[in-house]
Amino acid sequence: MKTFPYFSDPKPANARFAGRTMLVIGGGQAGGGADEPVGNGRAICLRLAAGGARVLCADRSAEAASHVVTDITSHGGIAFALTADIARPEDIRALFDGLAQRGIGIDGLVLNAGISDRKPLRDITPESWDTIFGVNLRGHALCAQAALPAMNSGGAIVFVSSLAAEMPAGRNPAYESSKAGLSALCRATALEAHPQDIRANIVRAGLIDTPMGRAASAARPGRAAGPLPFGRQGTAWDIANAVCFLLSDEAAYVNATELAVDGGLRHGIARAPAHGA
Ligand SMILES: NC(=O)c1ccc[n+]([C@@H]2O[C@H](COP(=O)([O-])OP(=O)(O)OC[C@H]3O[C@@H](n4cnc5c(N)ncnc54)[C@H](O)[C@@H]3O)[C@@H](O)[C@H]2O)c1
Repeated sequence: MKTFPYFSDPKPANARFAGRTMLVIGGGQAGGGADEPVGNGRAICLRLAAGGARVLCADRSAEAASHVVTDITSHGGIAFALTADIARPEDIRALFDGLAQRGIGIDGLVLNAGISDRKPLRDITPESWDTIFGVNLRGHALCAQAALPAMNSGGAIVFVSSLAAEMPAGRNPAYESSKAGLSALCRATALEAHPQDIRANIVRAGLIDTPMGRAASAARPGRAAGPLPFGRQGTAWDIANAVCFLLSDEAAYVNATELAVDGGLRHGIARAPAHGA
């Protein structure tokens, strides 16, 4: 009888990250109301933990990081909470110095933190522009820079970007520009990380129903009201699944690329919401 390699894989899907340390920046989520959707960072942390990883959940909010860590450890997973605001270079240095002092090597780095101010071009100021870029682009660059010396060979970096990088999402030029900048940062990182056998890729999220997504929809009610791919918004689980793929050995030859998780929205693939949705 023929044995398919997939079925005889000694590492089943639920243990594909066993023994690996995964650092998720912007991985927290404070316990909101019962109907608050799952955020991308939290879903990524939970999926990684379910795959057997030791998860380091870093967030500017200590409460948000602790909440996710408790969620994981109470289900038997391994996770630790770290606090760092990546707008502050000194926080980034302290985060990675702390890991180095404990001799912790990193197998996967997820750069998920992101902020938006929804200011149209006419309203932006030098300060508001720098605030967005300080997190969405400079923060990610400094984290990637600090992480590389601490990363194990065979590791991977994933930047969480947005469809807004290529499709104006509605009068939000600083956010859109910062996300577009991630494309070049990812390619540059992949080039510099390659001698260490480390890959770098991007997940480009479409319209996703997260706390940030709901806040954007509240500010601009038309945002998710029109026809959508498969008649729905994406979920944080859709993003987490793509991030986990790019971190896994299954993506060992996938490098310096962008995986769109938008249901095809960037190509205008959309339909009316399903009845009752
Ligand atoms: N929701 C969407 O529709 C959507 C679409 C495209 C891309 N994205 C991207 O997905 C990522 C996560 O989005 P989300 O919707 O889950 O947002 P969210 O606001 O729910 O979660 C983001 C997390 O990042 C943390 N964070 C923000 N600034 C930080 C900083 N300076 N330092 C450390 N942590 C910080 C927040 O505390 C929060 O826990 C962002 O990069 C966002 O741009 C979201």
